[in-house]
This record gives sequence, C-alpha cells and structure tokens, in this order.
Amino acid sequence: MNVYDSERMLEAVSKTHKLVTSPNDADAILINTCHIREKAAEKVYSEIGKFSDLKRKNKKLKVIVAGCVAQAEGNAMLQRQPLIDSIVGPQMYQNLPNILLDESNKRNVLLEFNEREKFSKLGTKRNYASISSFITIQEGCDKFCSFCVVPFTRGAEYSRSVEEVVEEAKSLCKKGCKEIILLGQNVNAYHGAYKNKTQTNLAGLIKELAKIRKLERITYTTSHPRDMNDDLINLHQYNEKLNPYLHLPVQSGSDNILKNMNRKYTSKQYLEIIEKLRKKVPNIAISSDFIVGFPGETKKDFIETLNLVKEIKFAQSYSFKYSRRIGTKANRINCSLTEEEKDERLQELQMILNKQKIQYNKTFEGKEIEVFIRGKGKRDNQYRGTTKWMQSTIFESNKSIESDKVHLKIKSAMDNCLLGELI
Ligand code: 5AD
Ligand code: SF4
Repeated sequence: MNVYDSERMLEAVSKTHKLVTSPNDADAILINTCHIREKAAEKVYSEIGKFSDLKRKNKKLKVIVAGCVAQAEGNAMLQRQPLIDSIVGPQMYQNLPNILLDESNKRNVLLEFNEREKFSKLGTKRNYASISSFITIQEGCDKFCSFCVVPFTRGAEYSRSVEEVVEEAKSLCKKGCKEIILLGQNVNAYHGAYKNKTQTNLAGLIKELAKIRKLERITYTTSHPRDMNDDLINLHQYNEKLNPYLHLPVQSGSDNILKNMNRKYTSKQYLEIIEKLRKKVPNIAISSDFIVGFPGETKKDFIETLNLVKEIKFAQSYSFKYSRRIGTKANRINCSLTEEEKDERLQELQMILNKQKIQYNKTFEGKEIEVFIRGKGKRDNQYRGTTKWMQSTIFESNKSIESDKVHLKIKSAMDNCLLGELI
C-alpha cells in the first residue's frame, strides 16, 4: 500500500515538482513510513538523520514525513528529530501540494482522517502505470486485532466507490497496465457504492473490472478469513481474469491464541475456507501471514501452528516475530518468551514454510506458462516477471524482448523463484 501511496503523492505534486534520482538534487524529500512492527518504525529516524548535511547546505530543503509513523507519533516526531519540516498522515496526502508551496517556515502537522476528500482530490487519472499496477480500493480497519496498529494509524474502514475504482483502472490500462492488484488492509470487507447508491462487495467490484477489455489479470490483498464469503470463493472458479492466488493471513494455528488475538475465527474455520477454495480451484496458491511469540504462546500453541501449516501446505508466506506496539491491547499482556525462544520458533516455522513453497513451485516444472515481465534481472540478459499464481520467475534471452509478456517452459523451481526458458 505504501508503494501505491508513494505513487499517488508524486502524482499529487506533479504540477510543481518532478522526481529526481538523488536527494542531493531535491527541493523536498518525502519519506513514506510503516508502523506495523517496531523495526520498520525505528528505521525512519536513522533515514532522516542522513539528510542533515543536505539540510545545512540548502536552507530551503523541506523534509516531509508521511505514512503511519507520522500518524502514530505526530508532534513527538518533530521534537525528536529537528530536521523534519512537516508531518502528513496517510489520509491527508491531498494537502501535499500546499505544503510544498508553503514558503513560511511553519512546521505543518496534518493528521486528520479525511479519506473521502483524499481520494476525491487525488482523482482517478494515473501517471504511474506498469504492467502490474496497484489500486487501493479500501482503507482502514474496524477489526481491532489485539496486536495491530492499523485501526489507529489508517482509521476506520472506508471503501471507494465502484465508478472511482473502475475509472482509475481504465486510466492505468490506457497506459499499458494488464494486471491490477486491488489493495486494502481488509480488502475483502470492501463494500463500495455505485453512483446510484446501491452497494456491492469485492466480488461485484471484480466483475465490473473484468469487463475492461485490456485488463487480463486481477488479484487482491490482504483478506481476512471472516470476510471470505461464498461470492468471492465462487468467483475464483468462474472468473477467468481473477488470479488463482489468495493471501489469507491465519496468524496462528492455536484457537487459544486466535481468541486472544481477537481474530474471531478458529483454525477449523480457516481450514474449511481453504478446503472450499481448493474444491473450486485445485492448484490455487494459498499464501499467509504468521506471528510467532504472541504473548502467552505456549509450546503447545506453537505446535498447533506447525500442525495447521503441515495440513494446509502454503505456496507462499510471510512470518514475523511478535512486536509490541504501544496502544494495542496485546501490549498489556505479559510476554514470558525470550527473544531467543521467539527466534527459534520463527526459524522452525520458516523452515517448513520454505519447503512447502519449493514443493508447490515444483509442481510447475515442465509446464508452459504465461509470465508478465516486471523488469531486468541481475544479469545482463536476464528478465524477471510474475505468473498468475504470483510466483517470481526468471528467464534469459540474448535478444531484447519487445513484448511485456512471454510464454515460458518452467525448467526448475528454486527457493524464491521459478527458472524458465522462452518458448
Ligand atoms: N507484531 C508482529 N507482526 C505483526 N503484524 C501486524 N502487527 C504485528 C505485530 N505487532 C503482521 C501480521 C499482519 C502483517 C501485515 O503484519 O501478520 O498480517
Ligand atoms: Fe490489523 Fe488486519 Fe487485524 Fe485489521 S484485520 S486489525 S489490519 S491484522
């Protein structure tokens, strides 16, 4: 979502400013930030410190902090880091043009939750488009999982209108986009309205988007198991443009921990969703997020997570050590695990998840598949792209590739990607 937000911020200021490749050439430096775990949040301060020489040399240089760290820490950031000129929370990016033009030395702090105005002012016309492009369709969250800062930093759940999303998608497709990744912290809770005020859900929105002729692939992230309704599950079977991929964070396999996390589903309910989906689309790529070392997680709880993983077999995953976040409910629960114990659990989990990823990717060996090219690889004649199962793929070509998509025969499945050969 921060990639999308950064593109939108650049578009918002494009009338007066253009992107430069080095901070040395900049009149303004915009730092977009993430507050989800402690490590990401702390990185911000060391990044800003790097600009002190530039600030000394150029008195007019503006350093602006955007994103969820800005939202969460607000004025305290200005006190901790004097180099910062302004702070802009995630729902206030529409004000960036004014902040950049403001010639007073005022330190602006904009932290309201004004998503309706934000999206209406940012508009639907896009400058940044690539073959696979993001569109935020829903922001914020009302779920209040006990470990998570999102409801505080991104605000209450908000869905953009159907027409707004469709217009933005058309604007991207005019510029060469062929795949749209729909974004939302709770994307499958989407409940957008048409201009005539009737509402639709994510399945309804995807059906509208699928009518855009130039659009070939659609995917969405991140979903919550509680909002995985039958409309959406069925759409995976019937809509050819919808990618056979689902990122559905389970977080833990222990019902006790899931309860304390306030996730409001059991491991059995999660398994049932996956079973239903696999009946419709047998080789669908299932991806998930995991947190190890949540306060009170016993050895037995952790083993239940491992058992769930072994039963489901994930195609992809992201796993994290629990990180205490101020203001969240879980921060009040005592954590008896040491960092070493959490590290050990994380390693054990990741070893199994990595093996599953390779096993899944191995089922593609020998198959011929279409890949959307995302750019050049590390070597001169190398290219990288993605499949519709969202696997990274690498291939070589001595001739330059004119098209933005190719057909590959998959030769082997590596740790992090598929290796293919041009057909
Ligand atoms: N500690 C560790 N991981 C977290 N996540 C969210 N909050 C925390 C936290 N406090 C993880 C969850 C979520 C992903 C985006 O980040 O797994 O799904
Ligand atoms: Fe955070 Fe996702 Fe839970 Fe919302 S549903 S509180 S975004 S983890």
